[in-house]
Amino acid sequence: MNTVNTTIASEVSQPDEVAVPVQESKPAETIIEEGKTVGKPFSDDPKFKLRDVEVFYGDAPAIKKISLDIGCNEVIAFIGPSGCGKSTFLRCLNRMNDSIDICRVKGSLKLDDHDIYDPKRDVVELRARVGMVFQKPNPFPKSIYDNVAYGPRIHGLANRKSDLDEIVENSLRKAGLWDEVKDRLDANATGMSGGQQQRLCIARAIAVSPEVVLMDEPCSALDPIATAKVEELIAELSESYTIVIVTHSMQQAARVSHRTAYFHLGHLVEVNETNKVFTSPEHELTESYITGRFG
Ligand SMILES: Nc1ncnc2c1ncn2[C@@H]1O[C@H](COP(=O)(O)OP(=O)(O)O)[C@@H](O)[C@H]1O
Ligand SMILES: [Mg+2]
Repeated sequence: MNTVNTTIASEVSQPDEVAVPVQESKPAETIIEEGKTVGKPFSDDPKFKLRDVEVFYGDAPAIKKISLDIGCNEVIAFIGPSGCGKSTFLRCLNRMNDSIDICRVKGSLKLDDHDIYDPKRDVVELRARVGMVFQKPNPFPKSIYDNVAYGPRIHGLANRKSDLDEIVENSLRKAGLWDEVKDRLDANATGMSGGQQQRLCIARAIAVSPEVVLMDEPCSALDPIATAKVEELIAELSESYTIVIVTHSMQQAARVSHRTAYFHLGHLVEVNETNKVFTSPEHELTESYITGRFG
């Protein structure tokens, strides 16, 4: 336990994200082939099948022909330098980019073989199936109970108060928060600690029984102890959910994920089993990144 905490503590003092190198032997563009990802980007049992995905903000490309499967009940980590497109790509998975006017998404993106970007698709239903947890905990300024009950109420998942109570309790239990809050469910969520708020946001996301949980740097605003709790929670949740986590912490990716995807300048450079990425990466850019030659 001590070693784990020391590792995490040393990370927290580092800057939030790492920068692209100033000095590099060859410019990265010359050693990235568009649309080509080394390693194992595909899966035998895909939840998401993403092919030739491109994303533009206005005319500026942010994601360049990425193809990737994300497996059922897999935890996959997205890593890479700041600004390389991790959040942009993550947001495609539940159409969170729809709210950015200048953002355009091209390519084929399927969840269980159904087109995520089908214009007839019900986006509210999509986001109930593919939930999201953000970098900064964002509980509603409501009671702890009402935060968790919010989704089940709008989706009509509980007809009776006792059913709703049960969903709230189960979600808080799964998020490892029940014992800490069971005697103050009516207290305002904004009075909780940052780590508790983030676990509350996870409870809120899982209260509607999603199939996938997307997490964009969920621990970067948390202290080491809260981080360790959220990481334990990710391990438990992975038994029932598919989890996609963006993280700037390589140690975190190594601790929580099965596969790791390395992004660089909008390309998906390498995807491999996490252990392989961190011990014997296939691509020289991945190696430069994980050995700290840049960043
Ligand atoms: N809302 C936005 N409008 C315009 N450009 C954006 C927006 N969000 C991200 N970008 C650009 O897209 C690229 C990828 O950004 P982002 O997905 O946030 O990267 P990461 O999460 O890896 O740091 C960057 O060049 C960034 O400036
Ligand atoms: Mg980001």
